[in-house]
Amino acid sequence: MSTTSLAYTSGNKAAASQWAVETHGLTKRFGENVAVNGVELLVPRGCAFGYLGPNGAGKTTLIRVLLGLTHADAGTMSLLGYPVPKRRDVALARVGAIVDEPRFHGHLTGRQNLQILAAAREPAARDRIESPLARVGMLHRADDRVSKYSMGMRQRLGVAACLIGDPELLILDEPMNGLDPAGMADMRDMILSLVAEGRTVVLSSHLLDEVERTCDAVAIVDHGNVIRQGPISELLAGASLALQVECSEPDRARALLEGTNIEAHIEVGQLGLGITLPAGTARDVIAEIARVLVEGGISLYRLQEIQASLESWFLQVTSRLGDSE
Ligand SMILES: Nc1ncnc2c1ncn2[C@@H]1O[C@H](COP(=O)(O)OP(=O)(O)O)[C@@H](O)[C@H]1O
Ligand SMILES: [Mg+2]
Repeated sequence: MSTTSLAYTSGNKAAASQWAVETHGLTKRFGENVAVNGVELLVPRGCAFGYLGPNGAGKTTLIRVLLGLTHADAGTMSLLGYPVPKRRDVALARVGAIVDEPRFHGHLTGRQNLQILAAAREPAARDRIESPLARVGMLHRADDRVSKYSMGMRQRLGVAACLIGDPELLILDEPMNGLDPAGMADMRDMILSLVAEGRTVVLSSHLLDEVERTCDAVAIVDHGNVIRQGPISELLAGASLALQVECSEPDRARALLEGTNIEAHIEVGQLGLGITLPAGTARDVIAEIARVLVEGGISLYRLQEIQASLESWFLQVTSRLGDSE
């Protein structure tokens, strides 16, 4: 069973650290393949943090290293302020994790699976079965065999298994995998409610928009390297500004704007122009664009600023990286 709600002694006060997860130079190789490459990760406490990257980026490997399921080749790490591996037992007593996907004994019921996990923990864990089951909306199916559960139900039971340890930190590997849109929405609400209680949730995902909707902060990982990290709002503040302009004579409109010193990338579309302005462009520039068009005799039907999304930012960052390679 890879649901890591292992039996560890608890009772020690959490070490004072603002970081739920901190790694420096963390590296894990499989032969020539560097799955985790010098990762510097700082996960603030009390947030939902997304470890975002495509398949094969090294997300599961990083989580396995953090949990001590495989050893690091280089680097240091700590969980909740406890250095790992030195104080792994104390740290992991406060951590609940699902790696790859939750696995349970299929021939046993959901409740029986949780009872087995609780029995391996501190005595108080035995009283933490019903409320997690209720919490994840599985009370009504708790006495059905796990083999009859859908993927969404297994994921929810996995979160319930994490909660048996009343963890400060939850590490969830691709918790949205295999869920339908309603299941994803449920998982998202569950994660947000755990964060609202003051827990930290680190989740890995290859789903950009899910991370954007669920997480406060994000690290973007590719080929084992963390490319960027930080609060999503701060990352997006560095994104370029996009404008959609509906107007008459789009070709002439573009020529007019290109005749000014406004720094912009302009594309002509059927209804008008798509304009990209560099990050940090003053809002006055938008007014200036409208003025140039109107004074040039163009009919301006609509001018809309497109909200920067993590996806557009991500594409900018990755294409910039592609350019520099
Ligand atoms: N046990 C293993 N042995 C050899 N290579 C592995 C092993 N686990 C993962 N890898 C390789 O490490 C890289 C990262 O894999 P993984 O951490 O599973 O990525 P992700 O979870 O982001 O999809 C991949 O190239 C994968 O093939
Ligand atoms: Mg994975």
